[in-house]
Amino acid sequence: MTPPLVVAIDGPAGAGKGTLAKRLAAHYGLAHLDTGLLYRAVGRALLDAGLPLEDADAAHAAALSLDLGSLSSERLRDRGAGEAASIVSAYPAVRAALLDQQRCFAARAGGAVLDGRDIGTVVCPDASVKIYVVASAEERARRRHAELAQAGEAASFADILADILKRDERDMNRASAPLKPADDAVILDTTALDPDAAFAKACAIVDAVAADRAPGP
Ligand code: DC
Repeated sequence: MTPPLVVAIDGPAGAGKGTLAKRLAAHYGLAHLDTGLLYRAVGRALLDAGLPLEDADAAHAAALSLDLGSLSSERLRDRGAGEAASIVSAYPAVRAALLDQQRCFAARAGGAVLDGRDIGTVVCPDASVKIYVVASAEERARRRHAELAQAGEAASFADILADILKRDERDMNRASAPLKPADDAVILDTTALDPDAAFAKACAIVDAVAADRAPGP
């Protein structure tokens, strides 16, 4: 029997992974997990408790008590939570505490799409399809700026671009599960693509793999 389809989507902040992952999940009838929300929830827990983000033990404790079912708050999507997530996600104990939950999610019978930074490299090294989504830093900042403006959060383009560059630097250069494409990932550059065009390209990548996996006559 063909194993369930597992799609791993990785890439830097603002590259369009989230939108793509959601649409792929709906299109192929798969469950979707935005793994950035897990790290955002840990960062947010520390901020809300008034604890410094440098407190790796508190971050570990927050990660251990995290419940995947309680990740829907809008406050997890704001800039503060994103920045905090980028800091606490560098702690190896935090990453280890969140690994099993992500792997369990990926192993569900109906298949899954997970998006994040280390899905293809660490969480699901055996994923059926791995897509590494990139876009120029300026284009990613432009998208994030528009998104935040729509959510009513005022921030200058320059500040957002600086945030993105800082996050890239942190996410790509940490020792534990740094952001990088898996050797067998397909690179999808969305700089010049609108969401529909990016989705069409991603579907072509998934369809090619699905055709290969289909049992023969
Ligand atoms: O995708 P996002 O912007 O919601 O992620 C927020 C931060 O969480 C990101 O800067 C790094 C971290 N993260 C991670 O280290 N590993 C993941 N699989 C997902 C997110």
